[in-house]
Amino acid sequence: MNSGLSRYDTFDRLYMQHPLIRGRKLNMKILIIGGGGREHAMAYKVAQSPLVDKIFVAPGNPGTAEEKKVSLIDLAVDDLDGLLALALQEGISLTIVGPEIPLVLGITDLFEQNGLKIFGPSKSASQLEGSKAFSKDFLAKYQIPTARYRTFDEIDPAMEYINSKRMPIVIKADGLAAGKGVIIATSKKEARETVFHMLRGTTFGGAGRRVVIEDFLKGEEASFIVMVDGKNVLPFATSQDHKRAFNNDEGPNTGGMGAYSPATVITPEIHKKIMDKVIYPTVKRMIAEGTPYKGFLYAGLMITDKGHPKVIEFNCRFGDPETQPIMMRLESDLVELCLQACDGDLDKAQITFKPQAALGVVLASGGYPGEYQKAIPVIGLDYVAKAADTKVFHAGTTFMRGTISTNGGRILCVTSLGDSVKEAQTQAYKQIRKISCKGAFFRTDIGNRATEKE
Ligand code: AMP
Ligand code: GLY
Repeated sequence: MNSGLSRYDTFDRLYMQHPLIRGRKLNMKILIIGGGGREHAMAYKVAQSPLVDKIFVAPGNPGTAEEKKVSLIDLAVDDLDGLLALALQEGISLTIVGPEIPLVLGITDLFEQNGLKIFGPSKSASQLEGSKAFSKDFLAKYQIPTARYRTFDEIDPAMEYINSKRMPIVIKADGLAAGKGVIIATSKKEARETVFHMLRGTTFGGAGRRVVIEDFLKGEEASFIVMVDGKNVLPFATSQDHKRAFNNDEGPNTGGMGAYSPATVITPEIHKKIMDKVIYPTVKRMIAEGTPYKGFLYAGLMITDKGHPKVIEFNCRFGDPETQPIMMRLESDLVELCLQACDGDLDKAQITFKPQAALGVVLASGGYPGEYQKAIPVIGLDYVAKAADTKVFHAGTTFMRGTISTNGGRILCVTSLGDSVKEAQTQAYKQIRKISCKGAFFRTDIGNRATEKE
């Protein structure tokens, strides 16, 4: 007798019951916004999802272009109208936003008004990163642990405050400054000069017209990144970035010179403290403020010697380069998680990571984070491509005359898995040494804090 079901219907039905699929639409098209190492790592992970047929990355980079299912789209991250037109035309099922700029400009509000699913905070919730003054006031209002601070728009009261404080002191431009708007002044003279130039707009332009001056925190830094769906929280694996340009945390602040996961400084006890004292109160209070938070929430923390976490900053997105090691460890389906988060279902979500550690080392252009040359060929990538448990995530690269060449300050991030941070470190350094690029440099101590503990 004919049951009315073909073999293929039966297959489809069984397939849809698969725990990863759970009734989701198949053959999805995903849009990833951004062109750095973070977005390359996201594309690499999204490509592994059985839900996904096609991935658009805008603008992406030559490394991203080599991932399965990926097409690059030549649209800038702040071209909100262009990105919206693309998403509507292509019938994008889910957009994942890499950098903060489109979020702070309101891409989530725009996409949602047009009926599109997008994982990232609204314009008002993105202020947690977009304005240091907003986030510091938020932390203070709700007694979430952070360094003591004052905010200034005028020079005289700022100078008076500096005179009354002990050094070192931390001076931050209020607006977005690509991770570089933070100066740790060791003398009052340096503090006064920094504030003077920021408020005058000679450094960091409009971003520095208001400054936050805060106490210097001692301890060890860690990156704590979670997914939030408005009310529920799903913590990702912990990690540690290395913000200064040179070994032993010397030199200027950069976007990040390397990262590893997990961050050994975050013991289970400290993890609980972070969730109870920082993450849950933040998510709850964002609802109270009328700006519920949906997206990746990144708390940059200082873990004091006594094991107390204090918030250094919030970011409204995933970290770069933290994404690179974390995505190599993530076992769960990133697309499924983002869809669950968009639907407010993170309480039902589960996340698993490989027990191995992962460590990424950034290769940077000579001179970065200051001026640097571009269009320098990157040689040796083919040798690294063959290495087990290693992945090269591209950032500031471009394809020129048949070769991969440099196009930015952070060129790429060589990321390896290992049974310990030490093993991941050994493998990442072995591989990055196969790459040559005139004038480029990398730190040789990424992960040392963890390996010393191991
Ligand atoms: P931010 O952009 O606020 O994350 O600051 C960049 C970097 O400056 C941080 O990753 C820290 O290394 C350092 N930093 C910022 N604020 C403080 C602070 N209050 N005490 C010590 N270091 C800080
Ligand atoms: N790695 C630091 C950041 O993404 O802000």
